[in-house]
Amino acid sequence: TWAQIEQAPPDAILGITEAFKRDKSKDKINLGVGAYRTEEGKPLVLEVVREAEQRLVSDPNLDKEYLGITGLPEFCRLSAILAFGEDSKVLAEKRNATVQSLSGTGSLRVGGEFLAHHYPNKPILLPKPTWPNHNKLFPLAGMKVEQYRYYKPETCGLDYEGMLEDFRSAPEGAVVLLHACAHNPTGVDPTKEQWQGILDVVREKKLLPFFDSAYQGFATGDLEGDAHAIRLFADAGMEFLLAQSYAKNLGLYGERVGALSVVTSDPAITKKVESQLKAYVRPLYSSPPRHGAEIVVKILSDPQLYSQWRVELQGMADRIKAMRSQLFQALQDVGAPGTWNHIVDQIGMFSFTGLTKEQVHNMTDKWHVYMTFDGRISMAGLSGSKCQRLAEAIKDSVSH
Ligand code: LMR
Repeated sequence: TWAQIEQAPPDAILGITEAFKRDKSKDKINLGVGAYRTEEGKPLVLEVVREAEQRLVSDPNLDKEYLGITGLPEFCRLSAILAFGEDSKVLAEKRNATVQSLSGTGSLRVGGEFLAHHYPNKPILLPKPTWPNHNKLFPLAGMKVEQYRYYKPETCGLDYEGMLEDFRSAPEGAVVLLHACAHNPTGVDPTKEQWQGILDVVREKKLLPFFDSAYQGFATGDLEGDAHAIRLFADAGMEFLLAQSYAKNLGLYGERVGALSVVTSDPAITKKVESQLKAYVRPLYSSPPRHGAEIVVKILSDPQLYSQWRVELQGMADRIKAMRSQLFQALQDVGAPGTWNHIVDQIGMFSFTGLTKEQVHNMTDKWHVYMTFDGRISMAGLSGSKCQRLAEAIKDSVSH
């Protein structure tokens, strides 16, 4: 039955982790997947998460029953507050249908299924480049994928004009995927003024934004600042979708905890939208897992845990920024040809180095440095002691 089946290519990101695990070299470095590591190269469980888990397990009312289809109601409420802000009109007017889902991917996928059926025949425009899984999950949800210009290799910056031109020439009502902050893979974000310009064109062309928010608080340490774009669109009274993930900002990667919100124009519509979201979730996975969501609720609802989270979040963001400066310095010290300012200018978890696919092969084959073939490195996977070797590997690879 399966004799004709072809080998599928490895995943663009998770396939790198698989290759890294197979490598026997002592010097190997994994800068592929976006997962935070300590200075010692170890995965990190936040202290605030340990504390929340302690409280959970010692609770005599510990409950492992199924959650409802939309997840923990308190989780949904607090997640919406985190994204939109306590005083948001969207929340006051009950214009958000928010459901707990399986981290970023699951939330995007449920949103995609909903759009494919209830907002049919509209393409979704993805930034070029984008997180590779966007290109896979939306077609599987039944949506047609197109691209808009985003990154300008000549300047290592945003192709703002190109982006707006593509939005203006998009079919009316098209969906546009926007990275809420810390664009993955480029680390290049619009400025506040540019976000305003994007909002103007989105409104004029009646486009429907779908925000992917995977790094709130993780990008800069500032939970409010990293939600700027989402709140700008919310406060302007726009309708949009939002996928939130707690993988990075709470380090809950494997717990698969996130949320999907659909922002509507009216509370009566919100109810109907929520009922339809349930109709997609139930046949997909019935209901979301509860442990991670309970951790999030404990932290977001307790002022002491919340402020502890903010301190730890700032610590992670600061370590990543320090890695940017140290790598930049190391590249200067080894005399790597070219300019490397973009390493310090980009924000978030990743750096888009500008290395070509061939150069990445050299990084991996000769230096045992694992990174994605688009030239992206996870700054969160780097530590001070590895900067020198990484800089030498980059110098060698770009000189080829
Ligand atoms: C990444 O881009 O490396 C992360 O978002 C992890 C993933 O699931 O791809």
